[in-house]
This record gives sequence, C-alpha cells and structure tokens, in this order.
Amino acid sequence: MKVDVLLGLQWGDEGKGKVVDVLTPHYDVVARFQGGPNAGHTLEFEGQKYVLRSIPSGIFQGDKINIIGNGVVLDPALFKAEAEALEASGHPLKERLHISRKAHLILPTHRVLDAAYEAAKGDAKVGTTGKGIGPTYTDKVSRNGLRVGDILHDFDRKYAAAKARHEKILKSLDYEYDITEMEKQWMEGIEYLRQFHLVDSEHEVNNLLKAGKSILCEGAQGTMLDVDFGSYPFVTSSNTICAGACTGLGLGPNKIGDVYGIMKAYCTRVGAGPFPTELFDETGKTIRDLGHEYGAVTGRERRCGWVDLVALRYAIMVNGVTKLILMKSDVLDGFDTVKACVAYKVNGEEVDYFPYDITDVEPVYVELPGWKTDMTRMTSEDEFPEEFNAYLSFLEEELETPIKIVSVGPDREQTIERYVD
Ligand code: GDP
Ligand code: IMO
Ligand code: MG
Repeated sequence: MKVDVLLGLQWGDEGKGKVVDVLTPHYDVVARFQGGPNAGHTLEFEGQKYVLRSIPSGIFQGDKINIIGNGVVLDPALFKAEAEALEASGHPLKERLHISRKAHLILPTHRVLDAAYEAAKGDAKVGTTGKGIGPTYTDKVSRNGLRVGDILHDFDRKYAAAKARHEKILKSLDYEYDITEMEKQWMEGIEYLRQFHLVDSEHEVNNLLKAGKSILCEGAQGTMLDVDFGSYPFVTSSNTICAGACTGLGLGPNKIGDVYGIMKAYCTRVGAGPFPTELFDETGKTIRDLGHEYGAVTGRERRCGWVDLVALRYAIMVNGVTKLILMKSDVLDGFDTVKACVAYKVNGEEVDYFPYDITDVEPVYVELPGWKTDMTRMTSEDEFPEEFNAYLSFLEEELETPIKIVSVGPDREQTIERYVD
C-alpha cells in the first residue's frame, strides 16, 4: 500500500480540513506530519462547525486511527483544550488518536520567544500566529528541543533546563513577560498527554501499510509558506511540501501514492510577505466578505487576490501533485468575469516561471467569463454551467494536472467529485 498526501498549494487556509474529512471514509488512517497549532482546519457537517489545530481532520469519521506524527510540534495546553472540547461534543478520541513520542513540545517560553523575536523585527515582522512555532523548530534543529517522549523520563529536570536556557535569551532581549498562568495550564496539558497512546509513529505507519491499510497524510499551512520553497523569510518553520510527509512520518519516498494539491479559486494570505496578485480594491473586499476570509482561530483579516497560476505551477512541481482539488469557486459565482495570473513581469520582462524573489513582480492576467450561477446546491458535475467547465479546462491546461474535486461550499455535502482520473 501507499500513502496519499493532501496539502495546500497556496498560503494556507485552502480548505484542507474540509476535504480531509470528506476523503477519510476512503482511508483507514489519517496522519498529520508537520506544523502545529498555527493551523486552523475548519470542518462543517450536520449544522456544526469545528476548528482543529493539532488533531487530524479524520477524527469525525468513525473510529479511524488518527496520528500526530514526529514532524508536528505540539503545545500540550492547546492540545488539551482542543481534545477536551471534542470529547465534550461527543467525539471520543483517546483510543483512536496516537501521538508520536518524537514530536517536539512547544514550551510556554517558546511562545514568549516567538513574540519577542517578532517585536525585535519591528516593521519586518513575519506576522506569525504567535504559537511558538519558529522557536520550537529552531530548538529541534539545534538539538535543544524537548520531545513528547521526554515526558516519560526525568521530565522536570529537562523542562527546567530548557526553560532556563530560554529565560537567558529573553533576558538578553530585554523582553518582559509573565508565564505563570500559561505554565500552569501547560503542566496540566503534560499530565493530560500521558493518557494518550504515545507511539513511535514511523513503526506504526509502516506496519499499517504492510498490513494493507490505507493512509491519508494531512498537510498544514501551504506550499508558499514552506521554509525552503515559500516566500522566505515570510514563511512558517516546517516543510509543508510533500517531502515533509516523508520526514514527518518516517515514510520512504517510494511509499507516496497520490498527491492531492488543494487550491482556492482565488488566493489569500494572512500575515506579512509578498503577494503578487493581492487586490487592494473593492473586488478584494468582495472576495473577503463573500468567502468569509478571516482567520479560523485568530479572526485576522486574510489578504485576498486573484488566483496565481505561476505560483501554483511551482507548487505543483515541488510537490509532485497528481490531482488538484478546487475550493471556494462558489465565492466567484456572481462575478461577471474572473481573472487568473498566467505570468509575471520582472523588470518589464514577462516570465512564466516562479522567480527567486516575488516582491516586485507584476502579475499578467487573463480574464475569463464568469459563470453567473449559484452552484452551492449542485451535486454533480453534469450540472456545471458551460462557462464553469471552460474555466476548469483552462485551469487544467495551464496547470497540466486534472481537477478531481470541486468544492462549492463549506459543508461536507457541498463537494463534487469529477469523472477525471
Ligand atoms: P484549512 O486551514 O486549509 O483547513 O482551511 P480553513 O479552515 O482555515 O479555511 C477555509 C475556510 O473556507 C473555512 O471557513 C471553511 O469552512 C471554508 N470552506 C471550505 N471549502 C469551502 C468552499 O468550497 N466554499 C466556501 N464558500 N467555503 C469553504
Ligand atoms: P492552515 O493549516 C495560513 C502563516 C502566519 C505567518 C506565517 C508564519 O490553517 O492553512 P507561524 O506561526 O507558522 O510561525 O507563522 O505563516 N501561517 C498560516 N497562514 N494558514 C495556516 O495554517 C498558517 N500557519 C501559519 O500567518 O504569516
Ligand atoms: Mg486554516
């Protein structure tokens, strides 16, 4: 058996949570491989809305196994709050959520360091989610991190040493803080974590594959936020691309099957950094309002713009995407025309590749007729208006990849599978 990977091709918030939930019935296991509570994955079904941060989006579909892999960074306090809320809403997870002992822990002082580093950057700040993601991955790579497995042996000593190291840095930055309450909740989170199956997920996933089980890997963030290939330094601190599923779960590259690349019919971005197709006009505002483009957790306004095919071609390349999933086309249902960026102008010269720096590029647009049809209640591609089919063909040709699923609303039911292979 092989694993399929589902990941974001833009700047995150493409709708990964919704689609993972929809696809879960086809799989035995769902696994997260990177990121942490910087993610906010929204699912809607039966009139209820849930936002998941660290827990995989397969948790609502029967008793599938859900795995938090070694590549994830986990904040025990936020995890406890998220898990308890799910259990309280009638979704037990202790038996079916397995957590890698090799996943790194986000400490309260990591969150403070995140804020301190952002403050020190002034105007150049990244606009992080403030969840301690960067400092935690930094400690991992510099071999100073604490892992979930550490809570099982001599934990108090290890925690005190890590905290003392962070305190020294914070002192040198002259940063004022008080973690008393945060630390109390964090310690409660550590105790809570002990109740879960703490596993070596690399063995588990490979054994499951050997036993013929199917696995869906759920990405967080998006390719344009990848630490290597995104719009650096305005990125997150993990590899959000498909290769992250190999390192974040202990999978060989030959175990990767389909790579589902998920994209909105337009673009959004939260936080700072370049965004070539960003719209500062009424159209941008209309997309934000119709698409409810506000952060799933923070409520931060998302910046909006036209779909960027140059960036998408690049994302498809670095991920090896085999199938595309198109989200939120319903937001454009009422538009007379829709635009797509097909090339950039760099120093007055047109290029169709994704350049090293996208700060000063000018988008070159193609304008297509809108479909002017409410598609939110459609259930089959047979109902698609002609102009929408033309739009899909245009995207498939430009991106040289088939669009397998079209999502026409936030609900689980508003999902249309296409006949393409
Ligand atoms: P994720 O981080 O990739 O899981 O995406 P988010 O949950 O942060 O953001 C996607 C938002 O769009 C959520 O509010 C979803 O409920 C919503 N959504 C998902 N798919 C669709 C769709 O096809 N149409 C509309 N209108 N909303 C959608
Ligand atoms: P999901 O999984 C959108 C952005 C932040 C910031 C940058 C770095 O819901 O798609 P970090 O806290 O990771 O150090 O912030 O990355 N960012 C996201 N944007 N969706 C996300 O997750 C994001 N996770 C981080 O806004 O610009
Ligand atoms: Mg999100």
